[in-house]
Amino acid sequence: MTRRLWMGTVVMVATVGALVLAGHGQAPADVQVAVDAGKPGAAIPAGLFGVFFEDINFAADGGLYPERIKNRSFEFPEPLMGWSRAERGGAKGTLLAIERRQAADGGNRHFLRITADAAGTGFGATNEGFRGIGAAGGEPYRVSLRARRVADGPRSLRVTLDGHDGEPLANADLDGLTSEWRDLSASLTPRSTDARATLSVLVTAPGAIEVDTVSLFPQRTWKNRQGGLRADLVQLLDGIKPGFIRFPGGCIVEGRHLETRYQWKTTIGPVDERRLIVNRWNTEMADHQAPDYFQSFGLGFFEYFQLSEDLGAEPLPILNCGMACQFNSSELASMETLDEYIQDALDLIEFANGPVTSGWGRKRADMGHPAPFNLKMIGVGNEQWGPQYGERFAVFSKALRSKYPNIALIASGGPDPDGARFEYLWSHMREQGADFVDEHYYRAPDWFLSQVHRYDKYPRTGPKVFAGEYAAHTKVTRRNNTEAALAEAAMLTGIERNADVVQMASYAPLFGHVDAWQWRPNLIWFDNLTSFGTPSYYVQQIFGANRGTQVLPIELPQAGPVVGSASLDRASGDVIVKLVNPSADPKPVALAVAGLPRARTVSVTTLGGDPETENTLGQPTAIAPRPGTARIDNGIVHYALPPHTLAVLRVQ
Ligand code: AHR
Repeated sequence: MTRRLWMGTVVMVATVGALVLAGHGQAPADVQVAVDAGKPGAAIPAGLFGVFFEDINFAADGGLYPERIKNRSFEFPEPLMGWSRAERGGAKGTLLAIERRQAADGGNRHFLRITADAAGTGFGATNEGFRGIGAAGGEPYRVSLRARRVADGPRSLRVTLDGHDGEPLANADLDGLTSEWRDLSASLTPRSTDARATLSVLVTAPGAIEVDTVSLFPQRTWKNRQGGLRADLVQLLDGIKPGFIRFPGGCIVEGRHLETRYQWKTTIGPVDERRLIVNRWNTEMADHQAPDYFQSFGLGFFEYFQLSEDLGAEPLPILNCGMACQFNSSELASMETLDEYIQDALDLIEFANGPVTSGWGRKRADMGHPAPFNLKMIGVGNEQWGPQYGERFAVFSKALRSKYPNIALIASGGPDPDGARFEYLWSHMREQGADFVDEHYYRAPDWFLSQVHRYDKYPRTGPKVFAGEYAAHTKVTRRNNTEAALAEAAMLTGIERNADVVQMASYAPLFGHVDAWQWRPNLIWFDNLTSFGTPSYYVQQIFGANRGTQVLPIELPQAGPVVGSASLDRASGDVIVKLVNPSADPKPVALAVAGLPRARTVSVTTLGGDPETENTLGQPTAIAPRPGTARIDNGIVHYALPPHTLAVLRVQ
């Protein structure tokens, strides 16, 4: 629909609304909203609202991948990082990290030798976990490790799970050590809850043993998969029914240097063979350093695809395009060496979609998923910019399009939503026929409010917009408060109204560990045992659950402050109207819906409150959706829209 036609429709609907109000002798409401249900416009993609996952803030190791042991295979550059000597009851001895293979072999190269000269009540190594080990009382955990005795060393070892105060929570003796490596395991059920427990591997007799791949894993995981994802965090994701999952980031795709870029092939196959690398956020933030932040890839590309499938979301991988982070080294792969990067992309498509008879399809099947994952799109680079990116995108695009013409290509829009870099990228990607341009905006709430009509002006042809990373950043504190969430909600009404142009949008980042974050705000926060959604999370949930299938014209007073969008849900026949009042004043609303048989009922969902209020671990739903009430009087919906509130009116 052209803008002129759209405006014409709105004038007509507004007139209908005004007449109806005047005809029944009511005082005009403060905010008159008119929606035309007889003129459904653009289809709203089922995948409009998705999520952005990046391993930042300990989102993967220490978060979604719930391995409790940090540096379980002694592969950190400091092989004993995260481990300390356990000397119980006068025990004495040594801990040695031993290299069995060269770095070039990748995978699991080191193991730990524990030698007790005097065993006391136990000598060995204690793991500190990720800012402690989350141990839930009464919940079973599987402890497992690989071990062997050295010469005539002990034939058994003890694993003990202890509270932060040293109180024993659970323990087990693992017997049958021989001179050959053996996999041993036991179940530990802590007698009480402790979010900062430790796990120790001990010998209780003199002599030496060697251990590797020490793991403590909750038995209750998402879908109860062994080695699976943290159930409460996936549950929160499921709660917003994401249309897509963007992975694995973010700057992490690029790496500080090309050597530490994200390479999906090193993240699949047997978990303990996946090659650990430094996490790009390890030392990135001067005031939030995390020298113990590495990527074990227990959560790798197979798991991302599986998670997408579990949640009914489209997988959206972003791949390195031969460029390291331009905020860091800006290292470039020369055009002559780009083939390796392009091949990675081609192979990924085969890994996701290829038959089991193909090389990479076989690897997917070997990991337990013979059916294809049905990958439909791929991102070429993250926040790249400049002519070097243009050049590289062109080569990627040619190669990918010629082999996989149906895979949509997402191009970078750079780190800013405006300015010379942004303009260059848009005009270049338009010329190159990219399917999407990935826009990022981390801006103040006021900026979001000022951009509600941003996409009204975008061309209706050419690449679509992927709002691939956004979040309202409150000044100085960058808190996840109501003010930020409502600013995002306001912008999302503009996105929804322009669903023909903006076809995907994802808040970023997704997760933050309350004791180990580098960046905020984040959509979901967690500690070692519990988690909660922020007000921004509930905005995503509300928009996802009330998406509608087609855009409807909506007219609101241009002067604001109330903004909104309307859609029709073909399945239920409901007209869905979203309104955001970012102001401190209540706004009574009179909503006229033309083109509907007379509206009979309306249900209301609201989210709002004091702009400074945040959710916390202690008060996880201080700001959360609440029902509201509206009345219908002669076909007009009357609703008292509170200050600082998002409201969804579903007119049946
Ligand atoms: O979301 C955090 C970071 O912000 C992403 O890694 C990057 O793409 C952006 O700069």
